[in-house]
Amino acid sequence: MSDNRLIIFDTTLRDGEQSPGCTMNLQEKLRMAHQLELLGVDVLEAGFPASSQGDFEAVQAITRQAGPDIQICGLARCMRKDIDRCWEAIREAAHPRIHTFLSTSDLHMTYKLRKTPDEVIAMIKDCVSYAASLTSNVEFSCEDASRSDKDFLCKACATAIAAGATTINLPDTVGYAEPGEYAELIDYVIRNTEGSEKAVFSVHCHDDLGLGVANSLAALKVGARQVEVALSGIGERAGNAALEEVVMNAVVRKDYFGLECNIDTAQLYPSCRLLSMIIGKPIPNNKAIVGANAFAHESGIHQDGMIKNRQTYEIMTPASVGRTETSLVIGKHSGRNAVRVKFEALGYKLSDEQLQVVFEAIKDLADVKKTIYDEDLMAMVQEKIYRKPDVYRLNHLSVQSSDTGGIPPTAAILMDVHGEEKSMAGFGAGPVDAVFNVICQIVGREPHLENYSINAITGGSDALGEVTVRISEKGFTAVGRGAHPDVIVASAKAYVNALNHLEEMEATGQRVHCQHD
Ligand code: KIV
Ligand code: ZN
Repeated sequence: MSDNRLIIFDTTLRDGEQSPGCTMNLQEKLRMAHQLELLGVDVLEAGFPASSQGDFEAVQAITRQAGPDIQICGLARCMRKDIDRCWEAIREAAHPRIHTFLSTSDLHMTYKLRKTPDEVIAMIKDCVSYAASLTSNVEFSCEDASRSDKDFLCKACATAIAAGATTINLPDTVGYAEPGEYAELIDYVIRNTEGSEKAVFSVHCHDDLGLGVANSLAALKVGARQVEVALSGIGERAGNAALEEVVMNAVVRKDYFGLECNIDTAQLYPSCRLLSMIIGKPIPNNKAIVGANAFAHESGIHQDGMIKNRQTYEIMTPASVGRTETSLVIGKHSGRNAVRVKFEALGYKLSDEQLQVVFEAIKDLADVKKTIYDEDLMAMVQEKIYRKPDVYRLNHLSVQSSDTGGIPPTAAILMDVHGEEKSMAGFGAGPVDAVFNVICQIVGREPHLENYSINAITGGSDALGEVTVRISEKGFTAVGRGAHPDVIVASAKAYVNALNHLEEMEATGQRVHCQHD
């Protein structure tokens, strides 16, 4: 590989997915993995197979779906049993990678691992050579590298390289480093580690001080050639460096970084948008690259400059990151072919059967909504195509609102529960509360509602309302989403969706999990 090739290692489905509110079910992970492949990431970290049966199965399913060019990576603690589990999940990939990690800072070694530095070196040697006996593609991460003693770090890296690691990752695990200092550390380790020329050096920066992207870029400037990133910067606590930001820095400022990567930048917006739909978190308007305002020019002076020459205020075009304003307007009279072309422009390749499903849904939506926006279509495809078959299904809903006094807000609901139709009516403090109460009675569960949020996907009073709920029961936490022009219906759908996720998690034993144990 040439010296200026930047390897994009995506951890949306591992570090990203493990963060609260970002859990995905199997179908969602598969859909996301497919999109990451279209985006052109080099390495896809699919999960942490030893953490749960659900994670194991997801990593294995992603492996089986993956194409011939992408590397599929699984995370494993520095323990043979984790490495075995990881290998079992990824071994069928065309290019499997085992990613094993161990802390190297005094703080972590003393208090978290309760191991001496010599014991840590022995564990690295044992586990990396074990992983290397299974595959030639082994990555070793020195957890908390940015707070580790520089010379001990070099010793740990040299041990891992001698044992067969081909990628060495130096994470800023707690987002503590400052760009200049982090660059110095990476430079020092590359220069002073025995055998460093045999490995690719990688960085993985958390965003606790808002420096995840800046630190990653500073490290690329001094010789790191792999960067670990997540779409929209999701990840532990404040998140990871955002993939779209790192990539567009490398692309827009190629003159400065001199690096090449394999990313199809026109897939950046569709990828972030898909993630947002899946995890039910809207992209903030002012988010770099993919936020609604990222290319909006409000000031008169800027607008004037843009009219005279776009380059006055535009350093990249919206189209270059996939924000295509297609002139194709989809509505009641659109034909199947126009719908297919439109979805392709949005990054979705639908089968004939899937196309028929969304085609019919478009006709239904057009009956209740004047203008159908791209966001409506993306919400629709998520809802109609990628949602897994449900155990609970909402059939009909009727709600009566009320002001104070008299009859309280009332909901009557008809649902399928494990294939059996059930109906009930009941009250609540408000219409949404009434709906949730009745659904709970029908399914015979009492989850705690942790979070409820509502977002108008597009403008206008006929906009699709997108509701996200987070519920928990018996130690399991699930997120559900629903979209509908009627926000009460959207709420009911989101709640039922969350209950379905809860049911699936209980069946597979997959909790909202935490990897840093
Ligand atoms: O933040 C971190 O140190 C990690 C490692 C497992 C790479 O996520
Ligand atoms: Zn991390």
